[in-house]
Amino acid sequence: MQTTAPTTFRKEARQRAEEALARCVTLAGHSESTTGLTRTYLTKPMKAVHRDVGDWMREAGMDVRIDAVGNIIGHYPAARPDAQTVMIGSHLDTVHNAGMYDGIVGVILGIAAVKLLKGMRLPFAVDVVGFSEEEGVRFSAPFIGSTAIAGIFDDALLARTDSQGRTLAQAIEDFGLNAKDISKCAYAPKSLLAYLEPHIEQGPVLEAANESLGVVSAIAGQTRMIVNFIGEAGHAGTVPMRSRRDALPAACELALYVERYGRCGTDLFATVGQLNVEPNVSNVIPNHVRLSMDIRHPDDETRTTAVTQILMHANSIAERRRVEFRIDSRSDRSAVAMDDALSDVLKAALRAEDLPASPLVSGAGHDAMIMARIVPTAMLFLRCKGGISHHPDESVTVDDVADAIRATTTFLKTIQPPTKG
Ligand code: GLV
Ligand code: MN
Ligand code: MN
Repeated sequence: MQTTAPTTFRKEARQRAEEALARCVTLAGHSESTTGLTRTYLTKPMKAVHRDVGDWMREAGMDVRIDAVGNIIGHYPAARPDAQTVMIGSHLDTVHNAGMYDGIVGVILGIAAVKLLKGMRLPFAVDVVGFSEEEGVRFSAPFIGSTAIAGIFDDALLARTDSQGRTLAQAIEDFGLNAKDISKCAYAPKSLLAYLEPHIEQGPVLEAANESLGVVSAIAGQTRMIVNFIGEAGHAGTVPMRSRRDALPAACELALYVERYGRCGTDLFATVGQLNVEPNVSNVIPNHVRLSMDIRHPDDETRTTAVTQILMHANSIAERRRVEFRIDSRSDRSAVAMDDALSDVLKAALRAEDLPASPLVSGAGHDAMIMARIVPTAMLFLRCKGGISHHPDESVTVDDVADAIRATTTFLKTIQPPTKG
């Protein structure tokens, strides 16, 4: 499948891997914080990321554009103008105090693979996409970038505010984009041949198996909610303990229940990751606590049963403590199977390169969950040290990145558009 000799290809992939890791370090410098990496949706550092990523895309032979929700797209033309497109991508936003590779390495790998084509034209175009938003940090709404590209962006989100009171629509305008053009972000499903997302595993499976790469079979479903307990504020030194309507212990009870519930089930993950206390003053009884819940399981029925039982328990806490319980927002994403035929092409590419191709399930969410709705989708997982992610200690090796670049390039050289007729 290679047109260059295997040793030359390996050597070049290794050079591209060194370059890719240096690029991840460069992008980690574009942060909202001076003490770690935080880069949420359409904040200033994303402009600097677009400048660097755009330069690297152009150097690899791509035309570059930014769409109306801030996705950056590098287009590498096909041999023929009417050909379909293979998309390779992942996200460029991060969680708070993030590692350097979650999302980012997939975009950089896509650019490296295109660069390794060295101008060779394929029977399809290749679009490398850096999705603008996947983590859901700034607007408590994940997948803004990929839902726009898949044509299923929820317009109701435009009115949602961030912690500074800026709406999503305003954030888009602040970045110099036009929210009225969001519908133009969508790709016609027929124009797409395949979507491949390379991503760090974010779990311990590949490291335990001593394998650099794996092929995702399915992504676990997830429910994310923002819920509230609303009680009554009062003086910490005078309101009798028995008559209080304190929102914080109610929230703490729920957080403990969520943890207990998560520990009971196999493959169930249940997390309260965020707590906002009002008025958050040491001598005032909290009258309002807002908390996030994140519930995941590969089986949708198990997940929805868990969510129902957790919400029932939240209501019973509220009743017993005479506080109000309210759900502000809820998003449910079903588990998503990857496309078998495309995953087989990816596995064949891995085997052709003498690379491991074991299947594994992803507990983390990915843009691939959204893209799978409109295009055959596959995911390549890359071992990460200790399975650590969403943490500054995220780490990958240059050897593993070189393996992933060889796999992605060979995948591109292998995949065939369907024959017409
Ligand atoms: C994304 O990283 C998620 O799974 O929350
Ligand atoms: Mn993440
Ligand atoms: Mn990610």
